[in-house]
Amino acid sequence: MNDTLSPLPESVRGDISRVLIRREQIAEAVGRLAAEIFAACGARELAVAGVLTGSLIFLADLIRELPMRMRLDVVSVSSYGGAATRPGPMRFELPPAADLRGRDVLIVDDILDTGRTLAALRDLIGRMAPASLHSCVLLAKQRADLPDRIEADFVGFRIPDAFVVGYGLDYNGLYRNLPDVCVLHRPGAPR
Ligand code: IMP
Ligand code: MG
Repeated sequence: MNDTLSPLPESVRGDISRVLIRREQIAEAVGRLAAEIFAACGARELAVAGVLTGSLIFLADLIRELPMRMRLDVVSVSSYGGAATRPGPMRFELPPAADLRGRDVLIVDDILDTGRTLAALRDLIGRMAPASLHSCVLLAKQRADLPDRIEADFVGFRIPDAFVVGYGLDYNGLYRNLPDVCVLHRPGAPR
């Protein structure tokens, strides 16, 4: 058992197989990402669109490292219908007041997996005629099986194709409050 897990209650510790990225490493990456974003977007006013719910904690940390004038909106995503093996179309909800036309927009999400979410959101916001559109994710899973996957402009960490929780990421709504990014025990796998 990793020492970093020791402050966690036993009930949570048993669900986690290991810490993948420690909170100190996350904080360092957030600072680096903010510097990259500032270098690319400059001091112009930025319109940040954070994807709920997974990006909440990353978003809160990242925007406080960005010094420019900023608007903040959150986007909620739902995927509805679809056959069991193929997810249905995605629906995004943006606040009606989010007027992104002519703005420099930065999409912030927790993790890039298949890239479906980011691709669909880029399409949607792209149709609103922003002045520029960038995307930032804390984590990007390495998916050798998806060579044509969309990439984000700014990526905190490239991680193996494992299911991770913590720092905003959940499994069935749980574990978002863990301060580190952790690998979950495969549901049903022997401990
Ligand atoms: P994509 O559309 O396949 O790129 O998946 C992106 C979304 O799936 C993320 O915004 C997460 O909400 C969720 N997701 C993908 N992989 C994980 C994971 O390992 N842990 C928690 N959520 C994940
Ligand atoms: Mg998500």
